[in-house]
Amino acid sequence: MSKAWWKSSVIYQIYPRSFADSNGDGIGDLNGITEHLDYIKELGADVIWLSPIYQSPNDDNGYDISDYQDIMTEFGTMEDFDRMISEMHKRGLKLVMDLVVNHTSDEHRWFMESRKSKDNPYRDYYIWKEPKDGKEPNNWGSCFGGSAWEYDEETGMYYLHCFSKKQPDLNWENETVRKEVFDMMTWWCEKGVDGFRMDVISMISKDPAYPDGPVADGLHGDLSPYVCNGPHVHEYLQEMNQKVLSKFDLITVGEAAGVTIEEAKKYANLDGRELNMVFQFEHMGLASGEYGKWTTDRVELKKLRAVMNKWQTELEGVAWNSLYWDNHDQPRAVSRFGNDGPMYREVSAKMIATCLHMMKGTPYIYQGEEIGMTNAYFKTIDDYRDIEAINAYKEYTESGLINEEDMLNDLKMVSRDNARTPMQWDDSPNAGFTTGTPWIKVNPNYMMINAKQALADKDSVFYYYQKLIALRKQYEIIIEGVFEGLLNDDENIYAYQRVLGDQKLVVACNFSEKEVPCTLFDGKEGQELISNYKFHKDGVLKPYEARVILY
Ligand code: NOJ
Repeated sequence: MSKAWWKSSVIYQIYPRSFADSNGDGIGDLNGITEHLDYIKELGADVIWLSPIYQSPNDDNGYDISDYQDIMTEFGTMEDFDRMISEMHKRGLKLVMDLVVNHTSDEHRWFMESRKSKDNPYRDYYIWKEPKDGKEPNNWGSCFGGSAWEYDEETGMYYLHCFSKKQPDLNWENETVRKEVFDMMTWWCEKGVDGFRMDVISMISKDPAYPDGPVADGLHGDLSPYVCNGPHVHEYLQEMNQKVLSKFDLITVGEAAGVTIEEAKKYANLDGRELNMVFQFEHMGLASGEYGKWTTDRVELKKLRAVMNKWQTELEGVAWNSLYWDNHDQPRAVSRFGNDGPMYREVSAKMIATCLHMMKGTPYIYQGEEIGMTNAYFKTIDDYRDIEAINAYKEYTESGLINEEDMLNDLKMVSRDNARTPMQWDDSPNAGFTTGTPWIKVNPNYMMINAKQALADKDSVFYYYQKLIALRKQYEIIIEGVFEGLLNDDENIYAYQRVLGDQKLVVACNFSEKEVPCTLFDGKEGQELISNYKFHKDGVLKPYEARVILY
């Protein structure tokens, strides 16, 4: 096996709660995943990343873990896990586990001990601070609304939770905590897992001064400057690498909120001292405004291109990129960057896929993206299940900063639940996801948009993704070619080339619903590797047209 297999892999992300329910309780499960492995194999992805499947009270759908070495009751048993991983390996599919170690659940044994007394042996596993002037130690707001500090009556101190109050942050400065985490990771590696996606790993080292943060949204201080890319984060990851990662043949990706290019060059350096790659967020935050992500604004192509091109060119030869438009925390890619109306949904889904998959890095496909699933456009707050959406709705509408109608419109565009509606398998009730009542509403468009229909149509978005993946396996230039931006000021076209030896791969994508002039391909003889249109017109790109030509 080549050492850098993770460079040529394509990763398929499953959100287990919403993928496939095998026992009719309305919640997806491990047996449901095992039943659908052939579907992923058919697509051609080689690695499956599972959002957390560990024991959890589900305050944040599994990102609040109460036992790292047990399976969530609703998802099945350890026997189901063993069967699932063995069925994956039989098919040549690798398994990436979500590693959530910035925080645990408050129902984790460590925290239940920690909160008992100031001298409990587990006290220092978490971040406890004395009140300041009878109040919170600083003004930090949690990522899910409210203060990032929770007062605990038992000992009269506050604990830090960057996310919900049921997700207390672990104290990575404590060597024993690090050892516990590394031992647990080793246990999973010995069980045969092939890698880790590390949840908010850029947040594990905090600024020891715990200063107040700037108040931008009128509610709380921003904690990110003091918790992202903190003073010891690289030291901790290098230790993790020495003690665990380097001992196995793994793929590793760090979710790195607030990561800059300079930081990414350390996290994802090709020298292999830390991780293989990171998820950066710059292209996800481009439409953010006064109230953070809560806006209906769309991203301008110019800004998107500038950010993506910067990451492509600046990591060249130094570090490795991850490539994604979509995941369980983001709205649906076709709704956000393409056009999810009936006329252009398929063609624009193929166009954005082309734009991403021909770049340099490891591509991630989020369940349903490969059939062009769209945002849910829920009409009332009662349809939402996500703690972030529910808390933000409450906090912004109650404070009067955003009115109810505007907040509902913002949620329709950016809520995480857009990505969490059940996978649309077929046109039977509940999209074939469950025979019971789904934990979150199925998108009503499942009658039209579903995997069964996609598999029956040779021109579907599914087969287009299949071809993009196959091309990556076939042409080295897609993996190794050096990226160069083209038409950098064009209002509608995102174009670039990849260069390897005397080969050139030219990619042009029209992000608009207009026909636009494009002379990139005129008068040159090349081989078309893929396009979302059968017939082209000289000198133009049709609405949402994408073309990839090898010279
Ligand atoms: C990032 C995860 O992707 C998200 O779903 C989760 O809510 C937070 N980290 C907290 O774990």
